Amino acid sequence: MTATEHQQQTNPLEEGLLLRRTPDPCALVIFGASGDLTHKKLMPALYALMLRRLLPARFAIVGVARTDGDDDAFRSDMKDAVQKHARDVFRKDVWDELAQNMHYVATDFADDGGENKLQDLLTKLDKERDLGENRVYYLAVPPAAFPTIVDELGKRRSASGWTRLIVEKPFGHDLESARELNTMLREHFEENEIFRIDHYLGKETVQNMNALRFANGIFEPIWNRQFIDHVQITVAESIGIEGRSGYYESAGAIRDIFQNHLLQLLALTAMEPPVDFTAESVRNEKVKVLKALHTPGPKSVVRGQYGRGYVEGEEVVAYREEQGVAPDSMTETFVAAKLYVDNWRWADTPFYVRMGKRLARRETTIAIQFKRAPHPPFGEVASEGLRPNVLLVHVQPDEGVSLAIGAKVPGQGMTIRTVHMDFLYGGAFRTSLPEAYERLILDTLLGDGTLFTRADEVEEQWLLVDSIVAAWQRDRPSFPNYAAGTWGPPSAEDLLQRDGRSWRRN
Ligand code: BG6
Repeated sequence: MTATEHQQQTNPLEEGLLLRRTPDPCALVIFGASGDLTHKKLMPALYALMLRRLLPARFAIVGVARTDGDDDAFRSDMKDAVQKHARDVFRKDVWDELAQNMHYVATDFADDGGENKLQDLLTKLDKERDLGENRVYYLAVPPAAFPTIVDELGKRRSASGWTRLIVEKPFGHDLESARELNTMLREHFEENEIFRIDHYLGKETVQNMNALRFANGIFEPIWNRQFIDHVQITVAESIGIEGRSGYYESAGAIRDIFQNHLLQLLALTAMEPPVDFTAESVRNEKVKVLKALHTPGPKSVVRGQYGRGYVEGEEVVAYREEQGVAPDSMTETFVAAKLYVDNWRWADTPFYVRMGKRLARRETTIAIQFKRAPHPPFGEVASEGLRPNVLLVHVQPDEGVSLAIGAKVPGQGMTIRTVHMDFLYGGAFRTSLPEAYERLILDTLLGDGTLFTRADEVEEQWLLVDSIVAAWQRDRPSFPNYAAGTWGPPSAEDLLQRDGRSWRRN
């Protein structure tokens, strides 16, 4: 038995995973089967689910792409992908079981009758494996391909089984295109059949925000403007655009991260306790937060673009020197903003957010900074090393939660310093965390939309982004304005310094 298997069998804290319902028999059809997402995320996630026996016993995976190929070539390509990208050790018996359920269809839905090949195969698989005509369609293709595929799938819905549709980001480019997309999807699918992916919602530590807030009696009473001075949310990446200039040039940091991942983190931090954990209750609460966000003024938003620099000891090129990027590109690779949630709980409490590529290190954190103790009786010198309490949620890496508190330094006298009480996932649960896509695929198979974004949420997110982007048309910052490997442009520091605050560093 391998170490991982042993741990899975002996660690009682993993029981939660085993208690889940098993999904109905079904076929999962992946459009964009030859793409990066399928190789790096989807297939490794399916392998992890198979290894843990979380997939239905009667199941089929059908890869669809325009590239020529057959079942054997697809299986061998996917095997390589799993060996390279899976978080678990590769087990031949598990792979063989998964592979025998895998099929490939080379077709182009844009061609007349292009969809027939897929339908014929699905009908055959239904008969052979009794899949109940249940389908999950995964749109891992560029958005331009959505309308044709969705239209064809909509026309051929099965009368007996259920149908679900997973839609990858980007979900539109602005509010108008997102609305059009929502309208198009709803011509053929009900809202509860549409699973819009924001993979941050599938991350364990993001879900733990809900556990932290609503499973503990001590935080909720102080989770408001009376006790919290401000909140800082950071989504920092040390990587650059990784060859995705075609997409990134027209997206920029505001559409790539702010519109989705960042606003979701903010909504989960600020939302009211839902009455239960159903998709509708949770999403109702998130939408209320998004509606309460007002457009920040131009002075409250900072944009940046990286120049050359050093990241983790390696020299890297400027954004404008990346392949496929215009030499005078005005695309932002960094955004920082001061946002306000205009409601009773949060009035006048700033939410400072920042996100960017080629920053000093990879770090996603939510820092809840509490107000200072009103009157520490120790004198200024004694409490020089004391900072206000901070509850820090480490989304990644070093997943966990830490609370900064003041403590007495050992020795004579009374000197106070800030120390940290840490909960680390690795230490407490002694198991590797599931990848976001494992959770999201499984939830779709189970029909649970709690960790997916609803149409109105996405539209609210775009409303805010559109108003920020509209203000950008009026000025032209001088780019690049930060060196790769730093924490963004100096104006991002000014944003907080003006308020007598600073970004946290660790
Ligand atoms: C994606 C963005 O949605 O999220 C990428 O398109 C980004 O640009 C990625 O790198 C970050 O995801 P993670 O899970 O690595 O934090």
